Amino acid sequence: MMKLPIRPRRNRKSEAIRGLIRETTLSVANLIYPMFVHAGERDEPIESLPGCVRWSIPGLVKECGRLHGQLGIPCVDLFGVVPDVLKTGDGAEAYNPQGVVQRAVRALKEEFPDLLVMTDVALDPYSIYGQDGIVRELPGGGVEVLNDETVESLVRQAISHAEAGADVISPSDMMDGRVGALRQALDELGYTQVSIMSYTSKYASAFYGPFRGALGSAPKAGDKKGYQMDPANAREALREAELDEQEGADILMVKPATFYLDVIAAMRKHTHLPIAAYHVSGEYLMLKAAAASGWLDEKEATLEALTSIRRAGADMILTYAAPQAAEWLA
Ligand code: PBG
Repeated sequence: MMKLPIRPRRNRKSEAIRGLIRETTLSVANLIYPMFVHAGERDEPIESLPGCVRWSIPGLVKECGRLHGQLGIPCVDLFGVVPDVLKTGDGAEAYNPQGVVQRAVRALKEEFPDLLVMTDVALDPYSIYGQDGIVRELPGGGVEVLNDETVESLVRQAISHAEAGADVISPSDMMDGRVGALRQALDELGYTQVSIMSYTSKYASAFYGPFRGALGSAPKAGDKKGYQMDPANAREALREAELDEQEGADILMVKPATFYLDVIAAMRKHTHLPIAAYHVSGEYLMLKAAAASGWLDEKEATLEALTSIRRAGADMILTYAAPQAAEWLA
C-alpha cells in the first residue's frame, strides 16, 4: 500500500468536519429579491421568468409579508412595469410622484418599516426607445443616449423614490457621474441616510433577455453597448469601481454574476466597500429550464451557483431565486 502522509480527504470525511472547514456561507441574510410591480389589479405570472410575478400593489404588499415576515428576506428591489401608453421619449413617468414604484414604496414602508426597500433607477421601463436614458435620434436611424441630460432625469427619479421612502437607490443605467450627482442631490434635500447601490460594472450582456420580456423594455433600436461595459473587459470594472467609490457609492455591484466571478474577485481585492452581485434573469432562466428538463437538480444547482458568487467575494446577491433559496436554507 502507498504511504501517503498528506491526505486532503481527511478533511472531507464527515459532514461535521466539512462544516468546520467550510470557507463560504450562504444565508438568507445575503439575499435581495428583485420584484416587478404594475398599476393593474391582477397578479400576473411572468412567462419569461418562471416563478416570478408582475404584482399589483396589494399583491406585492401581501407577498412581502410572506417573504419578509416568514422567510426572512431582508431586502426587495423594485422594478416598475408600465403600459405602452405611459412610455414617452423622455421617460418622464419615471419621476411621477404617483407612479407605480413610488406608490409601491409608500405602501411597503407603511406596512413593513423594517423591510429594506430598494428601487431601480433608470429610464428604460418608461422610454419608448427601451433605452436607459434620454435619446437623440441619429440621421442614420440609430440612437445616441445622452449622458448629462440623462443624469438630470435620474436625479429626479431618485428623489421621487427617496420622497416615497426608499431606503436604497440603485442606478442601473451606467451613465458617467450619476453616483456623484445622485449623492449630492439626495444630501441637499436632507436624504443623507438614503444609500446608493451602484451598478458599477454592468455588462452589455445577452443574459438580460427574460427581464426585458418581463418589462417589455427591449431596446427598439440599437443596443446598449455605448454605455454598458464590454463583456471582454475586467480592468475597466476596477476603474468604474474607483469612480463610484470617489463619488460616494455605498455598495458596488457586478452584473451579471456567474459569468463574471473573476470581476467580483478582482473588485473584492480592490475595494473595502461591500460588493453586490446580480444573478440576472438569463442566469436564473438557464437553471430553471435545465431543471424543468429533468437534467439538473434545481436546489443543488441553484445553491451551488449562489455559493460560487459568495465565494468569489460578493457580500450580497440579487436573485430571482431568493424565495426558494430562503426556503431551502431555512
Ligand atoms: C435596466 C436593467 C436591466 C436589468 C436591470 N436593470 C436590463 C437592461 O439593462 O437592459 C437586467 C436584470 C436582469 O436581467 O435580471 N436598467
